[in-house]
Amino acid sequence: MMTNMKAARIHSYGAPEVLAYEDAPRPEPGEGEVLIRVQAAGVNPIDWKIRSGQMKDMIAHKLPLILGWDVAGVLEAVGPGVTNLKTGSPVYGSLNMTRNGAYAEYVLAGVSDVALKPTTLKPIQAAAVPVVALTAWQALFEIAKLSAGQRVLIHGAAGGVGSLAVQFARWKGAQVIATASAQNHARLRELGANEILDYKAVRFEDTVENVDVILDTIGGDTQERSWGVLKKGGILVSTVSPPSAETAAAYGVRGELVFVQPNAKQLTEIAQLIDAGLLRLNIETVLPLADADKAHELGQRGQTRGKIVLQVVD
Ligand SMILES: NC(=O)c1ccc[n+]([C@@H]2O[C@H](COP(=O)([O-])OP(=O)(O)OC[C@H]3O[C@@H](n4cnc5c(N)ncnc54)[C@H](OP(=O)(O)O)[C@@H]3O)[C@@H](O)[C@H]2O)c1
Repeated sequence: MMTNMKAARIHSYGAPEVLAYEDAPRPEPGEGEVLIRVQAAGVNPIDWKIRSGQMKDMIAHKLPLILGWDVAGVLEAVGPGVTNLKTGSPVYGSLNMTRNGAYAEYVLAGVSDVALKPTTLKPIQAAAVPVVALTAWQALFEIAKLSAGQRVLIHGAAGGVGSLAVQFARWKGAQVIATASAQNHARLRELGANEILDYKAVRFEDTVENVDVILDTIGGDTQERSWGVLKKGGILVSTVSPPSAETAAAYGVRGELVFVQPNAKQLTEIAQLIDAGLLRLNIETVLPLADADKAHELGQRGQTRGKIVLQVVD
């Protein structure tokens, strides 16, 4: 007999109202999968980009679709062949975005997509970490190979990805130049940024030069104006728009687009940094799962200063 669970899912693409809080079939773990009893689901810009339909040519989804690929919870069951994780373990993870997500009481994950949750974080805090932390980590360390002593310019440093990137780069021993609104400068100084520019008041390209790495979480005009700021041989990594290979070549630099991948090993390293007190998180809003539509309205307005998380159980 099929068991149901509560979920916030979409039957068609559109405005936040297409998110329906309703019964959905509870999944069963297959080979190499685990079933997570969700405690909290993190909300990310990709969630409303997928909900609105703007990603439908890039990621093929079957509707209805449960959104939300950042999760913290407890393992309810493990599928055949899973030996490294046990029922009852507290986990967190960034899930495969081609499948149903974590705006639900239960979600399936691949065994290599989840890691043990940082012990010092509550589930609502842990659920805010995986997507933004893995994006920053993969952009800076896997793609840009950022090393101690290098100079990195982080656009959108006050955002979810940017604020983790500032901390990872400082932890690596890099010099960080950050762009953010004036209201976020004090916080970025606390996170370790060496130089902070108010992008609403100054043009960064007038004062910054010779950087080794740029992390672009903004795209558009910000990306276009960034090329001349790089050293020869430097690299721009964007989270939002594919950098032009021709423009990069003309400047003697490289440009790459990052697309975050689930990675249990990296999440384990990130959990260690969190438990050592080396990373700070900024959670601004916690809403119940039934209010997923409100979470999207709020996030899309772009006025939040920290992460939004949906609490699934108390
Ligand atoms: N490719 C991938 O795998 C991947 C993964 C994760 C995220 N992303 C994308 O990356 C982008 C950022 O994600 P996020 O979660 O960090 O978003 P977020 O938390 O909503 O951050 C947005 C931040 O951008 C800042 N901002 C806006 N305009 C700016 C400008 N012109 N210059 C500098 N800062 C500016 C705002 O800072 P102030 O408040 O200081 O103005 C705000 O804090 C989104 O588009 C998301 O979809 C892609």
